[in-house]
Amino acid sequence: MTFPISRPRRLRKSASLRRLLRETRISPASLVEPFFVCPGKNVRQPISAMPGICRFSVDHLLREARESHRLGIPAVLLFGVPREKDPLGKEAYARDGIVPTAVRALKDALPDLTVITDLCFCEYTDHGHCGVVKKSGRSFVLDNDATLDLMARTAVVQADAGADGVAPSGMIDGGVRTIRRALDEDGKKDTFLLAYTAKYASAFYGPFREAAASAPLFGDRRTYQMDPANAREALREAALDVKEGADIVMVKPALAYLDVLRLLKDRFSVPVAAYNVSGEYSMIKAAAAKGWIDGAAAALEVLTSIKRAGADVIVTYHAREAARGMKP
Ligand code: PBG
Repeated sequence: MTFPISRPRRLRKSASLRRLLRETRISPASLVEPFFVCPGKNVRQPISAMPGICRFSVDHLLREARESHRLGIPAVLLFGVPREKDPLGKEAYARDGIVPTAVRALKDALPDLTVITDLCFCEYTDHGHCGVVKKSGRSFVLDNDATLDLMARTAVVQADAGADGVAPSGMIDGGVRTIRRALDEDGKKDTFLLAYTAKYASAFYGPFREAAASAPLFGDRRTYQMDPANAREALREAALDVKEGADIVMVKPALAYLDVLRLLKDRFSVPVAAYNVSGEYSMIKAAAAKGWIDGAAAALEVLTSIKRAGADVIVTYHAREAARGMKP
C-alpha cells in the first residue's frame, strides 16, 4: 500500500474553514488613526502626496474622529501643523496651541476615544529639526539636553489639555525619563507614554513631510534617528525606554522593519506598536491609482503582516478604509 501524499490544501478548501483556522486576526480594535490638525475653521486641505488624507481644522477633525470612533477605531494620534514656526518650536508648548486645542475639543465630544499626541518639534521649528539646534563648527547639531526641557513642557501642556497618552517621536536620549518625571510631578500619573523607540532614518517619511511641512531646511536626521541597518541597537533603545517608563514601545516604519518588530515582541512584555508610515501608505495608493494593484486588498495584507510580525497596535493612515473592509 502506498501512503497517501499529505494534503494541506484540505484546510483551505472553503472560506469558512479558512476563517476558522486563520492564525492572525486583525480588527479595527488594533488600529490608531493619525490626524493632521491645523488652525482655522472649515479647513480641509488635501495632502497631494497622501491621497485621501487631509489637514483638518478642529471642526472637521471632530466630524472625522467621530466617524473613526463609530467604525470601532479606539484611538487617534494627533500632529499639529501650526501657523507660525520659530527656532524653538514655541507653538508646541503653547497652552492655546493647535494640538492642546484639538485635544480639548475631542475629549469633550468623544470622551472614550483615546487621544494620543505626537510629541516632537519638527512640525513647529522653522528649521524643521526635531528639537533645539546649536552650532557645532560650521554646521548645526540637535542639542539633546536643551530639547529635553521643551519636551517636559510640551508633555505637561498636552496632558493638561486631556491627552490620554503622549508619544515622543524625536529619538532624544533621556526623553522618556524626562517626560515621565515631568508628568508625575504635575500629577499626571495616568498619562501613558507611547515611545517611538526604534525610529529609523527612513526614506519612507517623504509624504509626511509635506503633510506636516516638516522637511529639515538643512542636514538630515541621521544623528538622532536609527541607522536602517541596525536591529540589535533597537533592543538597547527598547531596554532604555522601558526602564525610563515607556508604557508602549513602537517601531517605525513598519514594513521594512518587521524583523525588528518581532524581536521587540519576543524580548519585552510591554505592548508593541508599529507605525505604518506615510511612504508605505502612498506607495499603495499610487500603485492602486495606476490600476497596478488592488489597493484595499494590499492594505489589508500589509496590516495583517504587521500584526503577524508581532504588533499589538498599528498606527496607520489606512485605518478607516481598512476598518470598513474588515469582516467580523
Ligand atoms: C516627527 C515625525 C515624523 C513622522 C512621525 N513623526 C517625520 C520624521 O521623522 O521625519 C513620520 C510619519 C510618517 O511618515 O507617516 N518626528
